Amino acid sequence: MSSAIICGTGISLGEHCVTNAMLARITDTTDEWIRERSGIQQRYFVEEGVGTSDLAVPAAEKAILDAGIDRKDIDYIVFATMTPDYFFPGCGPLLQHKLGLSDVPALDLREQCSGFVYGLQVCDALLRSGAANTILFVGAEVHSGFMPWTKQMWDYLLDKTPVKPPQADIDAGSKYRDRTVLFGDAAGALILTRGDKGGVLGCKLHSEGAKAESLYVPSAGFKYRPYFSDAHFREGRYVPSMDGRAVFKAAVQKVPEAIREVCAAHQFEVKDIDLLIAHQANLRINEAIQKSLGLSEDRVYNNIQRYGNTTAATIPICIDECRKSGRIRPGQLICFAGLGAGFLWGAALYRA
Ligand code: ACO
Repeated sequence: MSSAIICGTGISLGEHCVTNAMLARITDTTDEWIRERSGIQQRYFVEEGVGTSDLAVPAAEKAILDAGIDRKDIDYIVFATMTPDYFFPGCGPLLQHKLGLSDVPALDLREQCSGFVYGLQVCDALLRSGAANTILFVGAEVHSGFMPWTKQMWDYLLDKTPVKPPQADIDAGSKYRDRTVLFGDAAGALILTRGDKGGVLGCKLHSEGAKAESLYVPSAGFKYRPYFSDAHFREGRYVPSMDGRAVFKAAVQKVPEAIREVCAAHQFEVKDIDLLIAHQANLRINEAIQKSLGLSEDRVYNNIQRYGNTTAATIPICIDECRKSGRIRPGQLICFAGLGAGFLWGAALYRA
């Protein structure tokens, strides 16, 4: 049966590149701490007012160009994000409008850092069933909306003012420093069609809702009346709450398990993987996964150093870089994998 093949990719980044040293001007942190604990050296943030659907537009346009298709050929949009422009609707229909597409279906997925592996399975099923022929699959995030920084802190961070923010504001924001240093804004887009050779071989996906509160946003939800309040804002509940160690531990255990599982399901061994592209949440997580699987350095791709964690955009950005630099070559066995809020995790195998 013909499965999904990637025939075009594109990325876009927030316009402001922010190094760890810049971040340390408004947060009680250091370049050394961030590099050592996470591997991150810099990240990008959008200008205020730019939403996730805006950031997705140039990524999608580059992917369309790369695939050599007419945008009118797109007959389905799948959009993965945990940071939509609005609580609802999702970014799918916004992107459809901004790209000037006809009234094609637009599906939003909210699987956080597992957005890519979950979305890939959905796209593959849509293509295999004939429900779609040419899919625009986007992973995009604007995390800057949950940064607990005042306008003056943003302006000082981005060199728009020489006036240092009050220390009390820096101290208040620094309460969240284990999270604010990790994330960046970016988008990655793929064009997927049916191919006769290669493509998606299969996916193994999982969830563990018992751990939902290890990583979640404890506000802006319809279990509250109203679903957002001044108290939520004052209490900083718009910033994700994260038990970093629990996420770390789960990732280093569950991701290798899912990779072994998907390999076994398709009669491969882990050593057959030519390239592992795992979600980029922490370089130390990915090094532990690599070690656990016994994969050599040249069989894994990491770029967290340059972008931080870009959630659903992460794997599409890695794919774009690997395709364009020749790291992905025809015939190679590629494995995609990740774990994130939910917990949700999984792995997919793809024959290039
Ligand atoms: N700068 C300086 N010091 C810091 C910072 C910072 N940015 N953040 C925390 N610290 C301090 C802590 O206060 C603590 O100090 P103490 O020892 O005096 O109490 C010390 O550093 C150690 O803190 P830990 O939290 O134990 O540090 P750890 O080594 O666990 O690293 C980290 C924290 C980087 C968050 C790590 O746990 C991690 O990456 N976890 C996984 C996160 C992840 O994968 N998230 C996925 C999110 S994506 C999604 O699905 C949305």
